[in-house]
Amino acid sequence: MLVSQLRPLPQAGTGEVLVAVAAAGVNRPDVMQREGKYPPPKGATDIPGLEIAGEVVAVGEGASRWKVGDRIMALVVGGGYAQYCAAHESHALPVPPSLTLVAAAAVPETFFTVWHNVFARGRLQSGETLLVHGGSSGIGTTAIQLAKAFGARVIATAGSEPKCDACRRLGADPCINYRSEDFVAATKAATGGRGADLILDMVGGDYIGRNYEAAAVEGRVVQIAVQGGRKATVDFSRLMLKRLTHTGSTLRARSIADKAAIANAIESHVLPLLADGKVRPMIDSTFALADAAAAHLRMQSGEHIGKIVLTCKD
Ligand SMILES: NC(=O)c1ccc[n+]([C@@H]2O[C@H](COP(=O)([O-])OP(=O)(O)OC[C@H]3O[C@@H](n4cnc5c(N)ncnc54)[C@H](OP(=O)(O)O)[C@@H]3O)[C@@H](O)[C@H]2O)c1
Repeated sequence: MLVSQLRPLPQAGTGEVLVAVAAAGVNRPDVMQREGKYPPPKGATDIPGLEIAGEVVAVGEGASRWKVGDRIMALVVGGGYAQYCAAHESHALPVPPSLTLVAAAAVPETFFTVWHNVFARGRLQSGETLLVHGGSSGIGTTAIQLAKAFGARVIATAGSEPKCDACRRLGADPCINYRSEDFVAATKAATGGRGADLILDMVGGDYIGRNYEAAAVEGRVVQIAVQGGRKATVDFSRLMLKRLTHTGSTLRARSIADKAAIANAIESHVLPLLADGKVRPMIDSTFALADAAAAHLRMQSGEHIGKIVLTCKD
């Protein structure tokens, strides 16, 4: 259960800054943590929250990138659902003037995840076709926009017509309602039988074998979650015959250096798109920090489209 508690003010450790949190993103992993299915890594706070935006109020030893008063958005290993949160200086990005702090708080977790898995790991190229499962999720709405911005074609899947419409508005063409249509046949039909060059999958289970069917020759499948099951019986001959690459990653447990490298790449390649509004986090709803439990209920309802954000006031 999520309950408000008074905790000691976090300190900015070596290489860190302390942020007065204006807003914090809510992510599916927070719900899993609350349910005991995604424990925080060793040494991390048990307070949930993987991304924040706000103002720097203190600078720790050895941290030189930010000064007090800077507006930053940061990926954190936990502790975002709070008035103050420490962040590593290299996991923070400047908030462009065009973004509110609420919008900025919806950026780090999904943009870091999508950048790393779609572009670095999945090697998406302009002109290729990306199939995104969970197209209306926080991750999905980011993946659709970024892939489009970098010149790819996007096919998405989602579980209702309003969700499919939202994906189409972001540029997915087609968006497949997986409850009424077979995504393998629909992907093949949409690509003249070729299949998708890259598949971003958060479902797993029986999607694994079906993804192999829906992939193009030399295609890549990147696994970022296994909501539909972590085990599957798969015909691996598809993987061999199509020369597929199946990979995956999780973000939270990555090293400080790995996350800093992702932040650097995002600053160079994606921040300009956020600054001029070419891509934007899609916000479903905002809740006051004290109503975090209601924000989790909204996420668990599965009705949201895009990101849920907590707003923090003193
Ligand atoms: N590996 C990483 O580094 C990393 C980082 C962040 C998040 N994640 C994972 O990425 C996923 C999305 O995160 P989020 O915060 O964006 O969550 P979210 O907004 O709650 O999205 C969850 C999505 O999963 C889809 N889904 C769930 N079960 C499904 C099923 N059986 N078949 C098809 N679709 C299904 C839902 O689609 P419909 O509503 O259309 O059914 C929904 O769009 C989560 O699983 C999260 O754990 C991974």
